[in-house]
Amino acid sequence: MEYKTVRDIKFKDQTILVRVDYNVPIKDGKITDDFRIRASLPTLEFLRKGGAKKIILISHLGRPEGRDKSLSLKPVAEALEKMLPDVSFVDDVSGPDVEAVVARLKDGGILLLENLRFYSGEEDNSEEFIREIIESTGAEIYVQDGFAVVHRAHASTEVVANHLPVYAGLLLEKEINNLEKATKNPVRPLLLIIGGAKVDDKKPLIDKFAKFADQIVVGGKIAADGYKASEKIYVAEDFDKDGSGAKLDVGPISMAKVAGFITDAKTIIWNGLMGKAEDPAYATASTIVAEMMGEREDAETLVCGGDTTGFVENLMAEHKNLQYSLISTGGGAALEFLLGKELPGLAVIETK
Ligand code: 3PG
Repeated sequence: MEYKTVRDIKFKDQTILVRVDYNVPIKDGKITDDFRIRASLPTLEFLRKGGAKKIILISHLGRPEGRDKSLSLKPVAEALEKMLPDVSFVDDVSGPDVEAVVARLKDGGILLLENLRFYSGEEDNSEEFIREIIESTGAEIYVQDGFAVVHRAHASTEVVANHLPVYAGLLLEKEINNLEKATKNPVRPLLLIIGGAKVDDKKPLIDKFAKFADQIVVGGKIAADGYKASEKIYVAEDFDKDGSGAKLDVGPISMAKVAGFITDAKTIIWNGLMGKAEDPAYATASTIVAEMMGEREDAETLVCGGDTTGFVENLMAEHKNLQYSLISTGGGAALEFLLGKELPGLAVIETK
């Protein structure tokens, strides 16, 4: 990876601003999937062990229009505190309340600020907004570890670089290393498995990979709706249907072929479920893909996209033997990276 990471810098006794992506699903004040919170722990532990003075976490949650109590990051701070000691929360991002809590933080203490998107300055990519955060927290170094948000040109991902040196965190490093390896220098055969419902989202990815992948599989609703097959693109040909004839899962004839592709491949990228997998009756094909990939210790296996990663995470809770090279925390960011787009949050990171 070309970016400098926290491993490349001296940060002992420094106050560090860390951009995380704690955009997690919350229902009735309860976090229903803490994957992104757990994914941030290696960087936080690394900074703490390395003697960081204060660690200030910033994130967005959802897409609020102004302050919205249901999208406060307070439940996230509570969840984080169960994983790491000494975590505080303040319901603002700058000003006297923030300054007072920062002043009270112990060495190595972690403070999560309130949802950045409660303030218009975040999405407006406002210099003043981020400058106030930096001044109130005394931050001296910025670490980008919110891979899932690097495709956004926001104050906490882009203009922050005009005020602080920007380095990559360990989650960002892991995501980029795996995605780069699979796209720039893949161990072949390279197999791309695409599913899901929105053909407009997936077609650019299929077109791009048609140029350099060895095999592409198309399943999910986009296959059921009749995606065009070609020499390199295998489109599922039989489906499990409901009583009304709706094609809701890829069927056994197609899955026998897909299983062969998975067995042969040395790099496998999967984005998009094979069927309506939220209904266990139509989760068979997705389960086969997830299990076959998770058992391939001899292959690079990458899982991308929120629905797909959520499905795999749930399966892993039941089947502890499943392992993947990368379960990406980035939904849109991972897709844009795979498409080879320039991502504003990456463009500002110091290079080696
Ligand atoms: C995500 O969940 O993909 C990221 O947190 C980005 O969120 P956004 O699409 O609301 O910018």
